[in-house]
Amino acid sequence: MSELADALLDWYDENARELPWRIPPGSGKKPDPYRIWLSEIMLQQTTVVTVIPYFEKLLALWPTVFDLANAELDQILAAWAGLGYYARARNLHKCADYIVRELNGIFPDNEVELLKLPGIGNYTAAAIAAIAFGRQATVMDGNIERVMARMFNVATPLPEAKPILKEHAREITPAHRAGDYAQAVMDLGSDICGSKILKCKGRCPWEENCAANALGTADALPHRKSKTAKPTRRGYAFWAEYKGHLWLCRRPETGLLGGMMEVPSSDWLETPDWDAVPIPQIPIIANWKETPGLVRHSFTHFHLELKIIRLELLEMIELQEGDWFLFSRIEDLALPTVMMKIIHHLRQPVLDL
Ligand code: ADE
Repeated sequence: MSELADALLDWYDENARELPWRIPPGSGKKPDPYRIWLSEIMLQQTTVVTVIPYFEKLLALWPTVFDLANAELDQILAAWAGLGYYARARNLHKCADYIVRELNGIFPDNEVELLKLPGIGNYTAAAIAAIAFGRQATVMDGNIERVMARMFNVATPLPEAKPILKEHAREITPAHRAGDYAQAVMDLGSDICGSKILKCKGRCPWEENCAANALGTADALPHRKSKTAKPTRRGYAFWAEYKGHLWLCRRPETGLLGGMMEVPSSDWLETPDWDAVPIPQIPIIANWKETPGLVRHSFTHFHLELKIIRLELLEMIELQEGDWFLFSRIEDLALPTVMMKIIHHLRQPVLDL
């Protein structure tokens, strides 16, 4: 199996992507665990292209784990706004705080200890152990599962195939150049052994060893148990404004978009269509109108459709939990993408105020 690892490492030496958190192969530089950890948290469920500007922004704001631990959570959430999965930003802060206060700013150097930290699961622990500390850790994500399913022509569908694919990956993972190898297999999965378009002919260092390539089954692999379609939830959001101020409240700390700011809304109900959505009670005295169109957003487990009701208040009364914010301050708040979509939906009327 070591010939496979060596062939991939040779390929990586020529083809490694240049990424701002990456030490180029052969440069002899030592990786900074803080940068590796920061990038791997950001790369969870998010593409490299999306992450790059956020990584650069966070690193410029907080160049060390000490700076990050001393930052305010709201500043971190604001810098994270738009990247999604905001629990990551909260855990980032918790983890930095733990590392500074309990571990003197030193990251653990092995998977077992890394797994104990907030926001670090199997994938991230293995990636940090390999890339930052050169440990022989087996990194598995969707891309690497696809590579293994093809290399070994595994017909078992996901998710049942996961342990089989991990075992294949473990057998190939070398003890030497563990960090380069982990990143090489990631690059192979995203650049060559793609999910839709195969770009492997004449380019993949494992072409001759790939069972699916020999059998012509590669583009059908990996198999997946058929997924049920995502449901759609629907509701009304209330855009309440008073002389250049917008009413925002904070979501509960736990659950979807935990602790983020939002405009208030009715319950988001799973319904077959809009006819089944109850018309909301509008509890306050205001001029109100429904704005035309819908705001749509997709979360991991459901699609969301919101109709926006715009309330123009006649006085600055307190609504339910929340506060009034000047429109000019909204940019500084950590608003999740779905809320930014609402703001863009209403942007023209807002500028008219
Ligand atoms: N995806 C997740 N981690 C990555 C990394 N270190 N390099 C490239 N893609 C990645």
